[in-house]
Amino acid sequence: MDQELFSAVDAFIGKTVAGEDEALRASVQAAEAAGLPSIQVSPPQGKLLQLLVRLVGARRVLEFGTLGGYSAILMARALPDDGRLTTLEAKPEYAEVARRSIEGAGVGERVEVRVGPALEALPGLEHHDAAPFDFVFIDADKVNTPNYFRWSLDHTRPGGLIIADNVVRDGALGDADSTDEAAQAQRRLHEMLRDEPRASATTIQMVGVKGYDGFLVALVEGP
Ligand code: SAH
Ligand code: DHB
Ligand code: MG
Repeated sequence: MDQELFSAVDAFIGKTVAGEDEALRASVQAAEAAGLPSIQVSPPQGKLLQLLVRLVGARRVLEFGTLGGYSAILMARALPDDGRLTTLEAKPEYAEVARRSIEGAGVGERVEVRVGPALEALPGLEHHDAAPFDFVFIDADKVNTPNYFRWSLDHTRPGGLIIADNVVRDGALGDADSTDEAAQAQRRLHEMLRDEPRASATTIQMVGVKGYDGFLVALVEGP
């Protein structure tokens, strides 16, 4: 691994095609000041999410794992004025930091941060006016990614996208004997998708400022 090189390339991409504006930088600073871990998507990854939200023409977005609101701000900005993003966060103190940054970025009207373990929040979304979704970003506790994915598949329209972060895990995805439960969960998710006609998926390995990981991208097929 050549982490310095990966970070330098991400820095260049961030200075050219995937630049952050003042509000995004402020959200990173606010999260840091409040002691949140710096594990938000990188600027190039965030820009990819933003482009995909636009490509799908999404109006309703669901996110698992808000942290300080960085990815939520990026995706919310890609929505039309009447679009809506619901983001689920277990920790009330993170949600509060996120709400302030989301407000500061001018997308407060479009974003709802729901506090509590995501699995407990899901029943409440069943009859929520935000479902079914056009786009889902799964980025919370990694052992539950397959559970979040299963629910999302049942609540995303055909033509919608479901993205899951952190599925490659330093290559543990390829290791059948990995003792990392989170890695085994990503392996189960992939195996589940092998036999799932309702979605067509791939996983792209990524290197960058966050090391070696990757996104799973799944297109929800028609009925
Ligand atoms: N999507 C964010 C990063 C999320 S980091 C971004 O890119 O900006 C993962 C987040 O998931 C953390 O904030 C963590 O508190 C939250 N989380 C962990 N377990 C959770 C759970 N069971 N339900 C909801 N959120 C959870
Ligand atoms: C962690 C979580 C993430 O979503 C991520 O992208 C990187 C690290 C973590 O919990 O350590
Ligand atoms: Mg992540």
